[in-house]
Amino acid sequence: MSGTPHILITRQDIQAAIDRMAGEIRRDYTDKNPLLIGILKGSFIFMADLVRRIAMPLEVTFIRLSSYGSGTESSGKIKVLTRLSEEVKGRHIIVVEDIIDTGLTTAYFVDYLNKKKPASVRLCSLTDKPSRHKIPVKIDYLGFTVPDKFIVGYGIDWDEKYRYLPDICYIE
Ligand code: IMP
Ligand code: MG
Repeated sequence: MSGTPHILITRQDIQAAIDRMAGEIRRDYTDKNPLLIGILKGSFIFMADLVRRIAMPLEVTFIRLSSYGSGTESSGKIKVLTRLSEEVKGRHIIVVEDIIDTGLTTAYFVDYLNKKKPASVRLCSLTDKPSRHKIPVKIDYLGFTVPDKFIVGYGIDWDEKYRYLPDICYIE
């Protein structure tokens, strides 16, 4: 990869997808006070826009899971690096992800949450690379399906670079 970013999804298309997802979440969770758990760091910009569009009572927290380091391939070994201080038991949980690639991170985290006996767990992801899944993943709220390219921008990084780009880009 040379590292030059090319636009894949524009900021306008991102906002339209977030409007749609927020509407779906509002419809499904009205009066349920859901707890949205963002997986750091990639979800931080998406979460900020999403909750303002959902615009109804909800709670937000974040968790840090071990990531790729500086490589571009999932190791499949995932660790919870920060613990949740919020009570998960009995809560309606929405996991907020930037991208589902192999699906291993999400599967691991959903298992981890289920041990805490939540009322429900659903998954919301801005992007998905279905051609890369190593295990079946059910995404309840999805922004975009993306091709098998390395993507950056709108919070998503390549070795900590390019998170600030306003559009979702791919790197060649
Ligand atoms: P998975 O466990 O393989 O599904 O990987 C999920 C995580 O890997 C995502 O939350 C991202 O942090 C990172 N990741 C996967 N694909 C990409 C990509 O194309 N660009 C940037 N990060 C990625
Ligand atoms: Mg991530």
